[in-house]
Amino acid sequence: MVPVASTRSRTKSCAIIVALGEICGLVARIIAVANQKGGVGKTTTCINLAASLAATRRRLLLVDIDPQGNATVGSGIDKSALERTVCDVLIEGVPVAEVMQEAAVGSYDVLPANRDVTAAEVHLLGKPRREFYLRDALDDVVDNYDYVLIDCPPAINMLTVNALTAADRVLIPVQCEYLAMEGLSDLLDTIRQIRETANPKLDIHGILRTMFDLRNNLDREVTAQLVDYFGDRVYRTVIPRNVRLAEAPSFGRPVLFHDKHSRGALAYLALAGEINRREGSVLSARGAGGG
Ligand SMILES: Nc1ncnc2c1ncn2[C@@H]1O[C@H](COP(=O)(O)OP(=O)(O)OP(=O)(O)O)[C@@H](O)[C@H]1O
Ligand SMILES: [Mg+2]
Repeated sequence: MVPVASTRSRTKSCAIIVALGEICGLVARIIAVANQKGGVGKTTTCINLAASLAATRRRLLLVDIDPQGNATVGSGIDKSALERTVCDVLIEGVPVAEVMQEAAVGSYDVLPANRDVTAAEVHLLGKPRREFYLRDALDDVVDNYDYVLIDCPPAINMLTVNALTAADRVLIPVQCEYLAMEGLSDLLDTIRQIRETANPKLDIHGILRTMFDLRNNLDREVTAQLVDYFGDRVYRTVIPRNVRLAEAPSFGRPVLFHDKHSRGALAYLALAGEINRREGSVLSARGAGGG
């Protein structure tokens, strides 16, 4: 039998190793990209942020947990020819490493999805600890990455709850339109509930304004509301409406490999820079004894 004292000291050593890993940037930041509103740019953000962060030499895993499989297709992977998907990870317990694939271009890994993933949602509903399946599955691979991005479906369902339970942070893309703020309250309630139950560390990473047009009065008004409510959690970077961003998925590649000089490509590179800087200052604040 293991003496109690040695079990305790081992637990303590594990906590110290995790803390050191966080300070040194060895533990991946898991970011769920979520908004239950459809078509706000979640998938476009996942694909292009993954490629842009990879271009800054960060190691990236993109988890597609949406049965639409758009992040899978936009990463150049044929969703109809998949032998295994994130569904097998969630239902059968197949290791993530056996299911993930490399994106066709862009130097990041993808845990792919297609409509089979709908079955995983139904399956999870009947399970105990049903919100922890994705978190448990990612545990084995998370140390191999600097960031894990999770593309959520446009609903607050068990798949989104699994993503928010696995994540450290949530990136919320917002299209600056009429009633944009109203739509956010359900998501903020869900984040609050998950923080109180399954995942106390969950927090908002940032609010990303997508399909933005500064000439539009409404975009300026919604920006003012967002800044009022979320303060400096609204990313400085805005993603403009840009046709190259809309075209790139049909070629199965991030915009950086479709038209690297486009405004869309430059915006997502700027967002990657902003996120890296934000993460860098969090790490140095932690290293200096901050939170
Ligand atoms: N900045 C942009 N400029 C132009 N088109 C864009 C931009 N961002 C996204 N789009 C287009 O808008 C549509 C919706 O974007 P996207 O699929 O990323 O949203 P989503 O939030 O993931 O949608 P869903 O909720 O269905 O998963 C797509 O056709 C995409 O190509
Ligand atoms: Mg999507």
